[in-house]
Amino acid sequence: MDAILIAPARRGDAPRIAAMSRRLVESGLEPCWTAERIERHRRHDDSLVLTARIAGSIGGVAIMRYGDDAAHLNLLAVEPVHQRRGVGRQLVAWLEETARVAGTFTIRLELRASNRTARDFYAALGYRPCGTVRGYYQGVEDALRYERDLAVRAATGTG
Ligand SMILES: CC(C)(COP(=O)(O)OP(=O)(O)OC[C@H]1O[C@@H](n2cnc3c(N)ncnc32)[C@H](O)[C@@H]1OP(=O)(O)O)[C@@H](O)C(=O)NCCC(=O)NCCS
Repeated sequence: MDAILIAPARRGDAPRIAAMSRRLVESGLEPCWTAERIERHRRHDDSLVLTARIAGSIGGVAIMRYGDDAAHLNLLAVEPVHQRRGVGRQLVAWLEETARVAGTFTIRLELRASNRTARDFYAALGYRPCGTVRGYYQGVEDALRYERDLAVRAATGTG
């Protein structure tokens, strides 16, 4: 099995990441994760664009924005051929650790209400549903909000 290398995105990765988002996350929507927007996040001090490189190519990606009170997981996608190998879990663990080090203990995200896989994935990682936003995805679909309190893990040692 090929090794999984988790590392910040490199210059030139943005078009490939944008294509992954269109295909795996934004299907049926007007794409909003353009290569330009991803590149802005890659360069921004408050954001982290993280990749999982497998056999030399990008097999997974995650984008997190760090705020004072909470961090927001903006994007997460793993290529179907690499799913269920722990790539998503490793990407999120890396971002959570970065948040902890920065003293930010709340992680928030939205996901498409129809995305059963993502609901199962985030539940397995200790995230809890905390609301619904009607029509959040360009009026086409509702969003489910999920949240994780990293301090709870630190206090109980579970999760
Ligand atoms: C959601 C997604 C990122 C998960 O990535 P992944 O690398 O396959 O997930 P992992 O292998 O790290 O899974 C961790 C745990 O999540 C749960 N999980 C993941 N995929 C699941 C599925 N299809 N069905 C049920 N549970 C699942 C399991 O508990 C899994 O642990 P296990 O394999 O030991 O049982 C991936 O399916 C994906 O990219 N989907 C398309 C895009 C998307 O939905 N992005 C998230 C919303 S923005």
